[in-house]
Amino acid sequence: MIEFIEKMPKAELHIHIEGSLEPELMFELGRRNGIDLPFTTVEEVRAAYRFDNLQSFLDIYYQGANVLQTEQDFFDMTWAYLQRCRARNIIHTEIFFDPQTHTDRGIGLEAVIGGMVRARDDAREKLGISSRLIMCFLRHLSAGSAMETLQQALPYKKYIIGVGLDSSEAGHPPEDFRLVFERALAEGFLTVAHAGEEGPPAYIRQAVELLHVSRIDHGVRCSEDAELVKLLVDRQIPLTVCPLSNVKLRVFDKMSDHNILNLLESGLKVTVNSDDPAYFGGYLNENYLALYRDLNMTREQAIRLARNSFEASFTGEQEKQALVACLERYVQASG
Ligand code: ADE
Ligand code: ZN
Repeated sequence: MIEFIEKMPKAELHIHIEGSLEPELMFELGRRNGIDLPFTTVEEVRAAYRFDNLQSFLDIYYQGANVLQTEQDFFDMTWAYLQRCRARNIIHTEIFFDPQTHTDRGIGLEAVIGGMVRARDDAREKLGISSRLIMCFLRHLSAGSAMETLQQALPYKKYIIGVGLDSSEAGHPPEDFRLVFERALAEGFLTVAHAGEEGPPAYIRQAVELLHVSRIDHGVRCSEDAELVKLLVDRQIPLTVCPLSNVKLRVFDKMSDHNILNLLESGLKVTVNSDDPAYFGGYLNENYLALYRDLNMTREQAIRLARNSFEASFTGEQEKQALVACLERYVQASG
């Protein structure tokens, strides 16, 4: 089963590229750019990755992103992640990035997007991995700042499939960003939003009804509202669930308490994702393996989750069929 999971073709739909920055590369970029870090060793950095909640993680995560300065830095980070995808049989990935984390420090959007696009083009050609970029607005900043960011990104529209909403959830409801998302939809972007990670089920409902999202990121707190679950099942709105992240940030006390397989068995279109793998102790395969180890995920459930990851992706219909076919061939060949 472990080998079956590791080799299974899969897609990742919820990964913050800044959350893939491993301490080793963080030090290298810090040295290259003359940026001091409040740590002296990789071990010290890893020891600091002990979080009580979402905010305690975000504080350290935004600090880590300060080492990213040039187009080459964004290339190096993205390329490192895509090579890890290759090693884990992730054949399609949809990558979040937080432009405001960088533009607020005076880094140009052309460096951020340019580096990621170059890595992604290389990955398509050299690694056979397809990918999309999703630009997230930081919800702890104002809707005005999000609107300004959307406008700045319009020249790069062809590189960005959708917009999302992330950062501190509590006290920052989706409804605050209604106008920005309306404008994004009018410009042809798809929409997603983090909701129901720490925030209440009402935020999930707002994301669906006011932001017209095609997927909910996390969404695990939907289980507190049976009517909401029914709505998500009826409309087959995918949830991009991140098990290791949820346990690290104490959304669940331990993996054996996680509700992901119950959500899957309720008929929800659930997917497995890594969120911020450099911070949460594992990439996508480690998330699947945790479900096998602690929740007794069956082979059939693993296959269903992988199939969902392709079906919930923002690829075209033909590409989607090719991805699902790749999974089916794998399942057949492994007997
Ligand atoms: N940004 C990076 N990871 C996040 C998470 N888990 N929730 C909200 N914003 C994030
Ligand atoms: Zn996230």
